[in-house]
Amino acid sequence: MPIKPLKKAVLPVAGLGTRFLPATKAMAKEMLPVVDRPLIQYAIDEARAAGIEQFCLITGRGKTAIVEHFDVAYELERTLAERGKTDILEELRSLSIEPGAMMTVRQQVPMGLGHAIWCARAFVGDDPFAILLPDDLMQCDPPCMAQLAEAYQETGGNVVAIEEVPRERVNRYGVLDVAEDKGRLVSVKGLVEKPPVDKAPSNLTIIGRYVLMPEVIGYLSKMERGAGGEVQLTDGMAKLIGTQPFHGLRYTGRRFDCGDKAGFLEAQIAFALGRPDMAPAVREFLKRYA
Ligand code: G1P
Repeated sequence: MPIKPLKKAVLPVAGLGTRFLPATKAMAKEMLPVVDRPLIQYAIDEARAAGIEQFCLITGRGKTAIVEHFDVAYELERTLAERGKTDILEELRSLSIEPGAMMTVRQQVPMGLGHAIWCARAFVGDDPFAILLPDDLMQCDPPCMAQLAEAYQETGGNVVAIEEVPRERVNRYGVLDVAEDKGRLVSVKGLVEKPPVDKAPSNLTIIGRYVLMPEVIGYLSKMERGAGGEVQLTDGMAKLIGTQPFHGLRYTGRRFDCGDKAGFLEAQIAFALGRPDMAPAVREFLKRYA
């Protein structure tokens, strides 16, 4: 069967951001900036760099600023043009999404990641789709989703980005039961969401980047509750194994867990050091904290 092109991405952004309160009391956590752009923008830019053209945000109450961020800000653009601020104007223009290419769906109840993805069922239809969790901020070259899209072209079927973590931390993630470890690609015979450390089948964990086949939606629609009493995406994906190819990809690059305060702070430093306009000043002041 020919491999269908990957053009759609689902981005769950309904989470309450309790770990960042009070900063997230009146503001979506996905709008927290790393250097000078919000987390959600990194995720959208990464998806676009992988050739993705259509976006579905799974939102909730208090998330309207995310949608505003990708709209055309006409008055702002006119003011910048009048003041001759062409650089920032160009950047703002490159941000806005083509008309009709972004939709939002509300997840009215917090029933888990699997439920959030199921909310995108009309958008997904019969097509393969990517998922990007904006809390996982990736610093990769080529961008992480582009690496996954390339692997998908090779293998077809489902591909998730994976990394090794110390044993004692596997209980925070979706974990792979490995059928065959081929190095860059790992074929998967099972998946477990947040297993106890002594029951985990490996220390290869899923990070927030996926390419999935639309059939996963059918399994999610059963609304079976898993770890933490939530509908887990990992459990839905596990059901696909044996019916479709399923691979993990050891991506190249780094992940920052921006759902965690220390991870978020580290991301600020790493991304600032990656910016030629900022790196010298940041390197200089960091000396004072060594
Ligand atoms: C989610 C997934 C988990 C995955 C993780 C990656 O967990 O359920 O399988 O390993 O994202 O960040 P969460 O971080 O929402 O608890």
